[in-house]
Amino acid sequence: MPENGWPADRIDTENAHSARIYDYILGGRDYYRADREAGEAMAREWPALPIHMRANRDFMHRAVRYLAEEAGVRQFLDIGTGIPTSPNLHEIAQEVAPESRVVYVDNDPIVLTLSQGLLSSTSQGRTAYIEADMRDPATILRAPEFRETLDLDRPVALTVIAIVHFVLDEDDAVGIVRRLMEPLPVGSYLAMSIGTADFAPDEVGRVAREYAARNMPMRLRTRAEAEEFFTGMELSEPGITQVHHWRPDGSQDGTIRDEDIAMYGAVARKTG
Ligand SMILES: C[S@@+](CC[C@H](N)C(=O)[O-])C[C@H]1O[C@@H](n2cnc3c(N)ncnc32)[C@H](O)[C@@H]1O
Repeated sequence: MPENGWPADRIDTENAHSARIYDYILGGRDYYRADREAGEAMAREWPALPIHMRANRDFMHRAVRYLAEEAGVRQFLDIGTGIPTSPNLHEIAQEVAPESRVVYVDNDPIVLTLSQGLLSSTSQGRTAYIEADMRDPATILRAPEFRETLDLDRPVALTVIAIVHFVLDEDDAVGIVRRLMEPLPVGSYLAMSIGTADFAPDEVGRVAREYAARNMPMRLRTRAEAEEFFTGMELSEPGITQVHHWRPDGSQDGTIRDEDIAMYGAVARKTG
């Protein structure tokens, strides 16, 4: 049983999982003892971990609000969705435009089990869930939920938030993102956050070692490597920044230090 008493079926309860560690650190309820112990060990190595993870989630909120409000996007493909945590992406988009459509993708069975929380669409809009591994983009693009939910004649925002640090070089994260952008029309967007050790190399390196020790090896990226994801696209202002510097909306307390944030964020438009 998880720590909140929630039943397990095909869920691996013995080993920590990234979605559940993130849920534990963000104050959620859907984690097991292994996840809590992992999260505690990581936060000992880097006490800023909760600040960093919260800032990432806040970046997702602002990026989606920007895409819905300012860019007028009404369709989203969200890769590595995570355990539902309100507000979820569709709730933000549908608050701006109730007709918004969102396809969620994750490969962790706990996210599938809890996906009901992601399917609470407005009646005007639509949400769908695909259980798939992003390292196999063809499966995502072939899925009926993808084809039936999204109109590929209209812009789609591909959101890849806090996941590519789990994609190793042999799996070619840049190539995967390009493959997922390919069928989306000109005028579509890419929003990403990308893990980095540029601002606190020792501490973030130790956290990465804690993940690796639990069978979740990490690929952290430099700024130049983060830029590669957006080659040929038109970056929205202010370009690639640490997530807390990307269009701050004043809801942060202004005390976040750069060394507490290990994530670059950016939004860009497909122009050709
Ligand atoms: C740190 S959480 C991020 C959740 C959410 N995107 C956010 O930023 O708030 C990373 C998520 O990516 C998922 N994930 C990791 N590797 C994946 C893969 N290869 N394919 C699909 N999902 C993956 C995990 O299951 C987890 O839910």
